[in-house]
Amino acid sequence: MAKRETIVVVDFGGQYSQLIARRVRDLKVYSELIPCTTSAEKIKEIDPIGIIFTGGPLSTFDETALSIDPEVFNLGIPIFAICYGMQLTAQMLGGKVQTAKVGEYGKVEIEYEDHPIFEGVNKKGTVWMSHHDSVAKVGKGFKVIAKTKDTAIAAYANDEKKIYGFQFHPEVVHSIQGLDIMKNFIYKICNAKGEWTMDSFVADQVASLKEKLKGKKVLLALSGGVDSSVCAALLQKACPEGLICVFVDHGLLRKGEREEVERVFKEQFKVNLITADAEKRFLKKLKNKRDPEKKRKIIGKQFIKVFEKEAKKIGKVDFLAQGTIYPDVVESGNGKSQVIKSHHNVGGLPSVVDFEEIIEPLRDLYKDEVRKVGFELGLPESLVMRQPFPGPGLAIRVLGNITKDKLDLLRDVDFIFREEIAKAGLDKEIWQYFAVLTNMRSVGVMGDERTYDYTVALRGVSSVDAMTADWYKIPYEVLDKCSNRIVNECKHINRVVYDITSKPPSTIEWE
Ligand code: XMP
Repeated sequence: MAKRETIVVVDFGGQYSQLIARRVRDLKVYSELIPCTTSAEKIKEIDPIGIIFTGGPLSTFDETALSIDPEVFNLGIPIFAICYGMQLTAQMLGGKVQTAKVGEYGKVEIEYEDHPIFEGVNKKGTVWMSHHDSVAKVGKGFKVIAKTKDTAIAAYANDEKKIYGFQFHPEVVHSIQGLDIMKNFIYKICNAKGEWTMDSFVADQVASLKEKLKGKKVLLALSGGVDSSVCAALLQKACPEGLICVFVDHGLLRKGEREEVERVFKEQFKVNLITADAEKRFLKKLKNKRDPEKKRKIIGKQFIKVFEKEAKKIGKVDFLAQGTIYPDVVESGNGKSQVIKSHHNVGGLPSVVDFEEIIEPLRDLYKDEVRKVGFELGLPESLVMRQPFPGPGLAIRVLGNITKDKLDLLRDVDFIFREEIAKAGLDKEIWQYFAVLTNMRSVGVMGDERTYDYTVALRGVSSVDAMTADWYKIPYEVLDKCSNRIVNECKHINRVVYDITSKPPSTIEWE
């Protein structure tokens, strides 16, 4: 097989590190993250056509500041250094970094010089900044190629060594034409051919999984969500005779969900699927538990127990497969970023399954990339475009204490909401939409009678990767219809509200 054109992204712990790698993949060059401790020797072995340095939370002045093998600058491979990576590069190559009087956070106006890296980019633009330190002086061979009001050196270039530094984040959508700058680096400086696509990912993955899984037994926890479904389809393609999927029905699913999973996987895809009925067990353990993180922990633990029971029946397997995708890894804390919510689908299972090795074929991908893989594998659109659904299910959408009655009520409300969204033709339009049973009751009046019932909140968001999200502007008439139907058809709901906050500062789920 011909060598795969690759750009490596050297990770200094920035929030956007994996996003940078996926931007490069979007631009049709294979890209993966490597730690900043990787030696120049190792990078040379990978033989990338370009190297990108990410940003990071530290200052180059910190005692624990991360660095890079200086030999990397002598490999003759073009370097694109962002934020912290830019400052570090300047410092290591004869320049100076200072802690600026004024930090820059958010959108900032920028002015670019004439330079090939900015070809096709407007002279003045808007970029996204997030820094306090900045480069005060560039080393020999470097020139300044962009400035902002508060940052004299917003970008620099060393054309001879092909090293380019950017104080701003070209990878985030708020940097207008940021992708054009990355594209210029990839195509004009690194001379990429740009032949990488999702179908090559699928072909590569299936081929390597086939080889690895030949004659082996693979166990996968299937939730019916996009990630584990795509994972199941990928594995089914690579190893149909060895794959066993276990689906845990914890009683926290949406209306009709279990039936749908069984129909699609058992009947349509002929997957060897085992369903574990565990509603009672979960509800018992969740009784009177109100704290969201506690609920997650309980569900995670019980899920493992139920899975363990099934795994014991199956016996030893060679591989334990997991549908982990990249945002799960980030939001569960990869050791560098802060833990926002503990997603229970990362880790946990290994200790209870008798297996040789873990496989996570989707670990480096974002949600929308996973969907592309799903289509490549020929999964039906209803499944591939299915909105994300959290592992703890409705337990984190019934705020506070959970009971079966509340779950059933929420299931009904959620079903109406989904039905009306589909009728309005918005089901593929809205990235994620659901109902939340708030713990709040208020006074209402129905048929001349006072009511004191629950408030339900509807939420709809648009997003690409769940890392950020905007609240979706659902037309009033659709909301009106939902509200009417919900209060009329669902007993004990007398108020419906729509959530109009984005992420950040909110999160998508309420708990
Ligand atoms: P948040 O609420 O963190 O959600 O903005 C981001 C995305 O992740 C889903 N989510 C979860 N998924 N286990 C999961 O598997 C969880 O505990 C969990 N919490 C949130 C959420 O639905 C959204 O798509």
